[in-house]
Amino acid sequence: MLRSLVREHSVSVSQLIQPLFVCAEPSSQIDQMPGIWRHDRDSLFREIEACLSLGIGLFALFPVISADLKDSSGKESLNPEGLIPRVLSQLKARFPQAQFIADLALDPYTSHGHDGLLDPQTGVIFNDPTVRVLGRMAVMLAQAGADILAPSDMMDGRVGFIRQSLDLAGLQDKLILAYAAKFASALYGPFRDALSSAPGQGDKKSYQLDPANSLEAELELDLDSAEGADLLLVKPGLFYLDIIARAKKTQKKPILAYSVSGEYSMIEFAAQAGCLDKKKVVSEAFVSLRRAGASGIISYHAKEYASWLKAGLLG
Ligand code: PBG
Repeated sequence: MLRSLVREHSVSVSQLIQPLFVCAEPSSQIDQMPGIWRHDRDSLFREIEACLSLGIGLFALFPVISADLKDSSGKESLNPEGLIPRVLSQLKARFPQAQFIADLALDPYTSHGHDGLLDPQTGVIFNDPTVRVLGRMAVMLAQAGADILAPSDMMDGRVGFIRQSLDLAGLQDKLILAYAAKFASALYGPFRDALSSAPGQGDKKSYQLDPANSLEAELELDLDSAEGADLLLVKPGLFYLDIIARAKKTQKKPILAYSVSGEYSMIEFAAQAGCLDKKKVVSEAFVSLRRAGASGIISYHAKEYASWLKAGLLG
């Protein structure tokens, strides 16, 4: 009683966002993420229904694109009949109470796995041409029903361009969740396994942040905020609590934390091996992200946490 009276931070289901992998093929389990699936349409509907009944109403969708649709320019990203636009319009019709975050980046669609257009000779990523593609992708996905557009690519200047593109298309009410402080982390491995999107050549260090840099993270947050982001994301979560805490102090917009695939898998495999109590560790992770200053948390454990909460299993 007294402990809860003086508790400073809490986690509620309304602060949780469930990421979901969507595929055109039949559903399949992701080996590196126990309990997480690439969902076909029916399984996606069931999963969203289950989440809604637990009080989770926000979803971040990520496409699993088959190899034959990937090419060096990622042109499937602009197909209005593509997987995500198709699924989005069905989801909005079926679940009007839910809100959907659409990812903006080219890596699910490119054969080389980079988030932007690549010069194969030099390995250089073309910033401005990529930004123009992202602007078109944003309009297409917003028109298909996305409520929030989330550039996860880390190109320079894309938030301003996406905002302008949305506004010009009459989509002023769509929000931008900017992956503002996204680090070149080794914790994205299981996600890349899920999407088969590991870069075939080079790495993402030319556009994602050096884990050693916090001033630069602040600069990226400042830029994305000034360009019109509505929500600012720090990613990964647990290794970067200092960045979240700093952002909470320096920024005026809400900060979200993305507890990424590697964080999920570390907990899952350690729990499977009997080393960690999963419920306790996930609860501690979530409250730590909140304590650091995150308004909301994107986590693959969101649904499971909500089910523990509902069943009264959390102390
Ligand atoms: C790429 C993207 C990545 C994730 C989300 N969007 C991986 C990457 O940058 O290579 C990772 C999320 C996770 O690991 O859970 N646009």
